[in-house]
Amino acid sequence: MELSEVLPKYWYNIVPDLPRPLPPPRDPKGAEFSRIELLNKIMPKEVLRQQFTTERFVKIPEDVRDRYLQIGRPTPLMRAKRLEEYLDTPAKIYFKFEGATPTGSHKINTAIPQAYFAYEEGVDHVVTETGAGQWGTAVALAASMYGLRSTIFMVKVSYEHKPMRRVIMQLYGGQVYPSPSDKTNFGRKILSENPSNTGSLGIAMSEAIEYALEHGYRYLVGSVLDVVLLHQSVIGLEAMNQFSAIGEEPDVLVGCVGGGSNFAGFTYPFIGAKIGSRYIAVGSAEVPKFSKGEYRYDFPDTAGLLPMVKMLTLGKDYVPPSIYAGGLRYHGVAPTLSLLLEDKVVEWREYSEREIFEAAKIFAETQGIVPAPESAHAIKAVIDLAREAKKNKERITIAFNLSGHGLLDLTNYQDMMVRYS
Ligand SMILES: Cc1ncc(COP(=O)(O)O)c(C=O)c1O
Repeated sequence: MELSEVLPKYWYNIVPDLPRPLPPPRDPKGAEFSRIELLNKIMPKEVLRQQFTTERFVKIPEDVRDRYLQIGRPTPLMRAKRLEEYLDTPAKIYFKFEGATPTGSHKINTAIPQAYFAYEEGVDHVVTETGAGQWGTAVALAASMYGLRSTIFMVKVSYEHKPMRRVIMQLYGGQVYPSPSDKTNFGRKILSENPSNTGSLGIAMSEAIEYALEHGYRYLVGSVLDVVLLHQSVIGLEAMNQFSAIGEEPDVLVGCVGGGSNFAGFTYPFIGAKIGSRYIAVGSAEVPKFSKGEYRYDFPDTAGLLPMVKMLTLGKDYVPPSIYAGGLRYHGVAPTLSLLLEDKVVEWREYSEREIFEAAKIFAETQGIVPAPESAHAIKAVIDLAREAKKNKERITIAFNLSGHGLLDLTNYQDMMVRYS
């Protein structure tokens, strides 16, 4: 099979296939401004159209397919044979390796089309915020691919403690500001109140949105919104082609959940095609949104600037403990995934940092890949499932999404090693 045949021509949108209609985004009662209108001003128009589409399949522009090929898509679907041997399990274990892309995670899959649609409408500059840096890195690369400038507001504490991520963004030509910054009214206000404020994702997002609005730039979104999940479906669609080429079908599909984009991207095409019987979303026990979250309208962003959506949430002001799987610290779950969890189409599990550290170590020793701490949550679930299969003598096939590699997370692993060894 040619690589370009494995790469799909359409993204898959689960919205028309949900068990019931998705509650629409809305403005808060008595809102002083319309957040939906704000989106109209800052998001590329085609991205916004796709956010609200109910079409099942959305064409991937040829140019975006070319860029996907350029970054090494299709990513490999690999069998974790040595992990199977180590666990002495009758289960087969496969994984899709999103760490094989240049920025090291799945985030680039949506950064490319969002940058492309901004470029198509004649804008020459995109803006976003980033916490630990995965998303900012993807935006910086995608922008450089289309000759766009990029400005990234990086949470100050990460800017200072994760200098390597900042260096990658700068190598791609990104302009990175520690947030709170003196580049926006909001940042200046925060700094005047407390000059040593170390920042938060909410502050960085408010700065990015203000900066985009003020200059007429476009703002790119990294997770949670339906349009991001749509773009990420490239992962699962490729995996379906790769499975059918080897004559296999997964029974159980697993992925970790921050906002929900890599899990949805990997599993939704299988859920839509009714392939597999169990879909398992894995979160962090330190951010217990599956076990303790409520299904209600909440803001997707801590700053409360985006329209409210109905989702499983710990509340936008929830402050998680400082666990290292930075990408899983998010307070909510994407609306479509929340609905599927409510309706028990998708199951969930939560694991502590100690548990995922042990799983990451087993995976590194058996398969040679150091996983991103976020992805190690999925690995822990897979190890448990493979052990359960052994106990029950089940010859099932388990597949999971390895959403990123952990080679830029070594300081975090070093700390975990000290804590747990
Ligand atoms: C490697 C990796 N995996 C998973 C996530 C979680 O995000 P999402 O649930 O949107 O895939 C992140 C977020 O930054 C990440 O960097």
